[in-house]
Amino acid sequence: MRNHTGHGYDQLAGRYQLFENLMFGSRLHRARTALLSSIPACHSALVLGDGDGRLLEALLAHQPECQITSIDQSRKMLEIQQARLSNHPHRDNVTWQQQDAREIRGFNHQFDLLVSAFFLDCFTEQELEKHLPHWLNALQPHGYFYFVDFQEPDTAWKRVRGKLYLTAMHQFFRWYTNLPNRKLVDIDGALNQCPLELLVAQNMSHDLISVRLYRMFTERIDSNRRNKESRLN
Ligand SMILES: C[S@@+](CC[C@H](N)C(=O)[O-])C[C@H]1O[C@@H](n2cnc3c(N)ncnc32)[C@H](O)[C@@H]1O
Repeated sequence: MRNHTGHGYDQLAGRYQLFENLMFGSRLHRARTALLSSIPACHSALVLGDGDGRLLEALLAHQPECQITSIDQSRKMLEIQQARLSNHPHRDNVTWQQQDAREIRGFNHQFDLLVSAFFLDCFTEQELEKHLPHWLNALQPHGYFYFVDFQEPDTAWKRVRGKLYLTAMHQFFRWYTNLPNRKLVDIDGALNQCPLELLVAQNMSHDLISVRLYRMFTERIDSNRRNKESRLN
């Protein structure tokens, strides 16, 4: 039985880019980097589940002053990230941490950018509901969230195409990594519960991929806090 957590991704790590290219060509990578230039200069970033580090490398090029913490549960993926950046002039800006993101605690308001690409779809809806608020809590008030993930296209032929890709992908990840999901989880449902303001968005690959830049919406944080306080009084 393949392990749901690190081991499946460890086995996949060395071939991840090859499989991706066979299935999607360069489309995923174009999506990953599509809105990087829209992110304002940041001092610190938390990157979750970046896999083999291609987004991390591109992020460093756009944010050369940014101190980045990259967390992934897969030791192999982190090794590939490190090898990729071994000669990078800003390599020292990156700190790597092998950890299950569901156990992240203590990053309260530490970062001004959170990055997740094709990561939120690794979790069940219940997990997203529980952990997404913790991950966003790593952001300072007004911090940015750079999000890239799959979505179900709305219109007829794009929807059919999208379903074929998503079904093939879920089968693949279920087999390789024991992903529990059989279909795309309702990521938007989880995001809509969070105090996020959408700044820019772009659909890619015939609407199969959504790239978004959000900012923490502090008025809602403040009003939530006021509501809590008034309930306590
Ligand atoms: C589908 S891959 C996406 C990789 C990369 N972000 C990309 O754009 O292709 C998911 C990544 O998240 C990591 N991951 C999955 N579940 C995780 C967890 N619970 N905690 C930390 N990393 C996790 C995997 O090891 C893998 O590197």
